[in-house]
Amino acid sequence: PLSSSTLEQASDPSSYNGDDADVDWDNLGFSPRPTDFMYIMKCCQDGNFVQGKLSRHANIELSPFAGVLNYGQGIFEGLKANRKEDGSLLLFRPDQHAIRMKIGAERMCLPSPSIDQFIHAAKQTVIANDRWVPPPRKGSLYIRPLLFGSGPVLGVGPAAEFVFLTYASPVGNYFKQGKAPLNLYVEEDSVRAFPGGVGGVKTVSNYGPVMQALLRAKSQGFSDVLYLDSVNKKYLEEVSASNIFILKGNVISTPPTSGTILPGITRKSIIEIARDLGYQVEERAIWVNELREADEVFCTGTAVGVASVGSVTYKGRRTEFKVAENSACQALGSTLVGIQTGLIDDNKGWIFNI
Ligand code: COI
Repeated sequence: PLSSSTLEQASDPSSYNGDDADVDWDNLGFSPRPTDFMYIMKCCQDGNFVQGKLSRHANIELSPFAGVLNYGQGIFEGLKANRKEDGSLLLFRPDQHAIRMKIGAERMCLPSPSIDQFIHAAKQTVIANDRWVPPPRKGSLYIRPLLFGSGPVLGVGPAAEFVFLTYASPVGNYFKQGKAPLNLYVEEDSVRAFPGGVGGVKTVSNYGPVMQALLRAKSQGFSDVLYLDSVNKKYLEEVSASNIFILKGNVISTPPTSGTILPGITRKSIIEIARDLGYQVEERAIWVNELREADEVFCTGTAVGVASVGSVTYKGRRTEFKVAENSACQALGSTLVGIQTGLIDDNKGWIFNI
């Protein structure tokens, strides 16, 4: 179990006399940058999380028998806080992330924090790490809630103790290439998910298995991998850490969240924004060959944001897409960022002021 000494280190963030963060805000990228505080809540078999608290961001101690280490009993979330021009802090749709965690927890036999507990943890983590929230337009504070079996197990079965831990790190562009259009490789050797599996849940175990294909694609100069469905091997699923969209004429299409695709909060937000902007949006199976006729292709995700795709390579054939200044992808991305950063009024209840 998590060592009690970690929890005893908990201190009052208001008493923390931190200097301004020593960060090059212009070159943030997406890498682990420890901040000052994390928020921890523990839970035993009764399924109730006890009062959580902030503690200094530090390593945690786990039993080698911990459920998450042995059998992957763990899920996570990722959400962002942004600094508005007036200096205030805005959290994007924490309620939706809390709901998704609750659904994932059920699938993985984990007790889940309540929606209010989740939002409280996210807010506390942002407030305590205020100095790590990038200045306006420089990036975001990425908040990573983890929920995992910390108790000891040996036979396959759920742990009896659980930890909900929320940490934060300032981030900029997810891809090293910055905002340049992505070159995707359609993976045919491995699949990311299958019917009845956990592709639709943010389990820790969904990400290890995609690394081999990702490294292979990167070594050939691609930015990321686009997965196909496991049954027919001909319908688009998603990219390693983002959802996929195509545009043809006025119609934007994206694969349906029928269990093998992660129900992205950014995906859902972009669908709503696209409809507001006058596009017709369809959630439907997309045949991989439709890519050849697409006017635009783009990816969405909390970490990735809205990223344009410049090419997709399938069976050795590369299809290129125009990435114009006035593209749908640009319009959707800037509307989303506008709402997230307070430049565009939020009339949807997506922003939680901190
Ligand atoms: C996110 O977009 O927040 C994700 O969780 C993707 C992550 C695996 C980098």
